[in-house]
Amino acid sequence: MKKFVFAISGASGSMIGIRVIRELLRTCEVHLVISSQSFQIIKEEAGIDWTADKKGSKGQRVKGSKFIEDKIKKYFKTKRLFFYENMQMDAPVASGSFKTDGMLVVPCSMKTLSGIANGYANTLIERAADVTIKEGRQLLLSPREMPFSAIHLENMLKLARIGMKIAPPVLAFYHKPEKIDDIVDFIAGKILDAMGVEHEIYKRWS
Ligand SMILES: Cc1cc2nc3c(=O)[nH]c(=O)nc-3n(C[C@H](O)[C@H](O)[C@H](O)COP(=O)(O)O)c2cc1C
Repeated sequence: MKKFVFAISGASGSMIGIRVIRELLRTCEVHLVISSQSFQIIKEEAGIDWTADKKGSKGQRVKGSKFIEDKIKKYFKTKRLFFYENMQMDAPVASGSFKTDGMLVVPCSMKTLSGIANGYANTLIERAADVTIKEGRQLLLSPREMPFSAIHLENMLKLARIGMKIAPPVLAFYHKPEKIDDIVDFIAGKILDAMGVEHEIYKRWS
């Protein structure tokens, strides 16, 4: 079974990341990292609350990655997903000895893009991407900003030149989208195509 590291960073478009994860989980194992900023955006845009607060048996507040992991596993109805907090630098995905088939960052904020392009491995997402690059594995970023500045474009070019996949959430209309789900499916499908993962979530041009 293929095994992917998956990161959601704090850019708009978290529902695209969530759609890709859902599809990956059909056939693959997913090791998920979510940046602290994205929890809020996921709540705002997708209406999903994956934050860590809950009441313990004695009424105390309980936090922790295990609680979030259980919540996310329940959401996707899966056991193939593993969750790590973005500051958990001793997570398996922080080491090159943990073998994977690659990593996706969907959506990718300009901050995380910069951290990855410049080898600034200060968060688990940046470290896991750094590891993916140094081990020569596939890395796909879906950078989302509008408009892109020359700094953003230079960071993307730097990564594209060493073979990383830059797959921003760009719209198409030839598949005749009628609702937001059609747009999300199309972009998610193109991302899976770029990673060589089989799927049937959008209708191909024929
Ligand atoms: C609602 C909302 C939407 C945002 N959308 C974007 C975006 O599309 N692209 C981007 O680069 N940053 C966006 N930001 C800013 C990032 O969240 C911010 O730069 C953050 O520090 C990124 O951190 P992270 O990469 O660790 O998640 C957004 C912030 C908020 C609150």
